[in-house]
Amino acid sequence: MRKMVTYYARGFLGTLALILSATFTQISYADTIAMIGTGAVGSALGKNWSNRGHTIVYGSRDPARESTQALVAATGGNASAKTPAEAVVGADVVVIAVPWAVGEEVVAGLGDLSGKIVIDPTNPRDINEAGLSVPPSLESSTEKFKKIAPNAFFAKTLNHIPAEFMEFSETLGLNYHVSVAGDEAAVNWVTKILTDMSFVPALIGGVRETRLLEAFYSSTNNMRVMGNSHTIQFGTPPVR
Ligand SMILES: NC(=O)c1ccc[n+]([C@@H]2O[C@H](COP(=O)([O-])OP(=O)(O)OC[C@H]3O[C@@H](n4cnc5c(N)ncnc54)[C@H](OP(=O)(O)O)[C@@H]3O)[C@@H](O)[C@H]2O)c1
Repeated sequence: MRKMVTYYARGFLGTLALILSATFTQISYADTIAMIGTGAVGSALGKNWSNRGHTIVYGSRDPARESTQALVAATGGNASAKTPAEAVVGADVVVIAVPWAVGEEVVAGLGDLSGKIVIDPTNPRDINEAGLSVPPSLESSTEKFKKIAPNAFFAKTLNHIPAEFMEFSETLGLNYHVSVAGDEAAVNWVTKILTDMSFVPALIGGVRETRLLEAFYSSTNNMRVMGNSHTIQFGTPPVR
C-alpha cells in the first residue's frame, strides 16, 4: 500500500513538474548563443533569447567592464561574458551585432566557425549629409563574412527592425514580416526564433540575396528621412 502511494505521488509530481515547466518556460531548443557586441542589438536579442531558454555568452572587447557585467546580470539565465573569440567556443549560434565598418575584422578574429550558425543583422551605415543612405556596395556583409568562414552557415535578418522592438517583440503585437536570407540551416534556425518572437519570417533567398536586405534597409531609411509617413508598414522606424 505504502509503495503504491509513493508510486502515484511520484507520478503526480512528475506530471506537475512537466505542466509547470511548459507553463513558465518557453524552451523549444536550448542552444548556446555567442552574442558578439553588447550594444543596442546585442543586449536586446540577448535578453529576449535568454528568456526563452537559450544560454547567452556575450563576446565583448571588455567582458569585465561594469556595463557588460550589468548586462549579464540583466540577461539572467546562465548568461556570461567573455572575449569574442572565447565566446564562440562551444556556441551553436553566433550573432555579429557590431558596427558595419568592423564586421569583417570581428568575424576574422573569432577563429573557427565551422558548422556554426552565424546571424548577421548589420547594416551599411554609409549616410550622406542629408541622412540618406548611399547605395551599398554590391556584395553584402554576409557574403564577405562567408568568404572568411566558408564552413559556417550564414543568415542575414533583423537588420530592418529597430533594436527597441527586439527585446520585447512578443509583447508589442507587431506581427511584422522580418526578412531572412542565407544558408538553409541558418534560415531554418532563424525562421524558428523569429516565429517564437512573434515576427513573421519572410524568406528572400540564399546568401547572394542577403544583399537585397541591405538595399531594403537603405531604401526604408531613405523613406523615413524623406518624410514618408507609411514606413511603419515596413517595420522601419529609426534603425541605426
Ligand atoms: N540599433 C538598431 O536599431 C539596429 C537595428 C538593426 C540592425 N542594426 C545593426 O546591428 C549592428 C549593431 O548595432 P547596435 O545598434 O547594437 O550598435 P551599438 O549599440 O553601437 O553596439 C555595437 C557593439 O559592437 C561591439 N564592438 C565590437 N567592435 C567594435 C568597434 N570597433 N567599435 C564599436 N563597437 C564595437 C561593442 O560591444 P563591446 O564594447 O562589448 O565589444 C558595441 O557595444 C550594426 O551593424 C547596426 O547597423 C542596428
